[in-house]
Amino acid sequence: MIGGGYVGLVSGACFAEFGIDVAVVETDRAKLAALREGRMPIYEPGLDRLVAGNVAAGRLSFGDDLAAGVAGAEAVFIAVGTPTRRGDGHADLSYVFAAVEQVARAVRGYTVFVTKSTVPVGTGRRVAEIVRATRPDLEFDVASNPEFLREGNAIEDFMKPDRVVIGCETARAQEVLRRLYGPLFLNQTPILFTGIETAELTKYAANAFLAMKVTFINEMADLCERVGADVHDVAHGIGLDARIGPRFLQPGPGYGGSCFPKDTLALVRVAQDAGAPSRLVETTVAVNEARKSAMAARVIAACGGSVRGKTIGVLGLTFKPETDDMRDSASIPVLARLMGDGARVRAFDPQGMEPARPLLPEGVVYCRDALDAAQGADALVVLTEWNEFRALSPARLAATMRGKVLVDLRNIYDPVAMTQAGFSYHSIGRRGDSR
Ligand SMILES: NC(=O)c1ccc[n+]([C@@H]2O[C@H](COP(=O)([O-])OP(=O)(O)OC[C@H]3O[C@@H](n4cnc5c(N)ncnc54)[C@H](O)[C@@H]3O)[C@@H](O)[C@H]2O)c1
Repeated sequence: MIGGGYVGLVSGACFAEFGIDVAVVETDRAKLAALREGRMPIYEPGLDRLVAGNVAAGRLSFGDDLAAGVAGAEAVFIAVGTPTRRGDGHADLSYVFAAVEQVARAVRGYTVFVTKSTVPVGTGRRVAEIVRATRPDLEFDVASNPEFLREGNAIEDFMKPDRVVIGCETARAQEVLRRLYGPLFLNQTPILFTGIETAELTKYAANAFLAMKVTFINEMADLCERVGADVHDVAHGIGLDARIGPRFLQPGPGYGGSCFPKDTLALVRVAQDAGAPSRLVETTVAVNEARKSAMAARVIAACGGSVRGKTIGVLGLTFKPETDDMRDSASIPVLARLMGDGARVRAFDPQGMEPARPLLPEGVVYCRDALDAAQGADALVVLTEWNEFRALSPARLAATMRGKVLVDLRNIYDPVAMTQAGFSYHSIGRRGDSR
């Protein structure tokens, strides 16, 4: 497994749990040192136990020596990052291609090169060209096995996925992957064998569709606010239709995270280059970007038109709960704008404060807990719906704060209870707000 990040580490540990010998190759020294000491470099529920158990059983190891890691491997998974390339929105494949070349040089016999990273259509072909150019003598196959796990639920998603998609073109490669995913065959998980291009595109299509669904309900929430409707009832009403489904209809401050923003952007570029532009996805990207920026304006409006000199408490920084991932989180533009407009910010996140520091403006006060963030605040903003925030007592919050403005961008509180506690309560797309 090349790359020991969110995907590589979880996939590696889960394959080991399936009984397979896994060597995770990770070049980041700090991450590797942590792994070797039994500390997790990321926050993912249950991962520490899964890793410890499989290390103890001798099936899972970590190192930075790629040649040693891939020696004797039947399959090498590439699980390195594919961030947005600076300037043009395409996926940056330099980490993938560098890893492929290193692996090609190091392996001895027949190997399946499996891209688990999310990569644009056509990458599998380029991987094959790189391997052929690097090692003309090598017997190999290329496969695409995109990963659909969600951070925060990653182990369950890997162990009990809705489906596994495998793009490959030879019976030999198929046989290797069939064996690796053996336990999932036994429990009758749908496993789709497709062509390589199809597997690559399926991943982008899935993420783009989900991003569109979130963006759709966000637009409906804006409309609800204008016409006096309730977005949760609308979501429930449409979600009961089996053709639509209830999930991913939760309104919020705009999608963020390590995947949707970069993958929608990359799909837009791939589609444009292929001469089949996706205007739906292009619009989704634009609407979502505008929404994230507009969230700070909501807070400013709730504070009476200015936050200059005011203290804003912030609950949650990560792009969603149960992860420490800060990539493309809505908190980044929101806090930048609030502080740019002269607000003082006191923030708390149960897991994301360390990763947040380099991404947020200097001057953010990082707090011990939610009540500490609310201490003396003129307004409180909920940015991430961590469970521990749901249980806060309205009366205690009200007693802790100086002002009584609550901007709940995740709709985790009951508008009636908050209004009764004296708050000027603002949420997304619901009636009963005091706007
Ligand atoms: N994070 C998710 O929820 C998720 C879900 C599905 C798919 N994906 C996709 O999986 C891929 C990886 O995502 P991630 O979130 O795990 O990224 P990540 O940044 O957390 O991890 C990538 C790791 O690869 C390491 N690395 C880079 N080059 C290397 C090399 N040559 N040898 C060894 N290690 C190397 C980096 O140090 C880093 O730790 C991306 O393409 C992403 O789109 C991510």
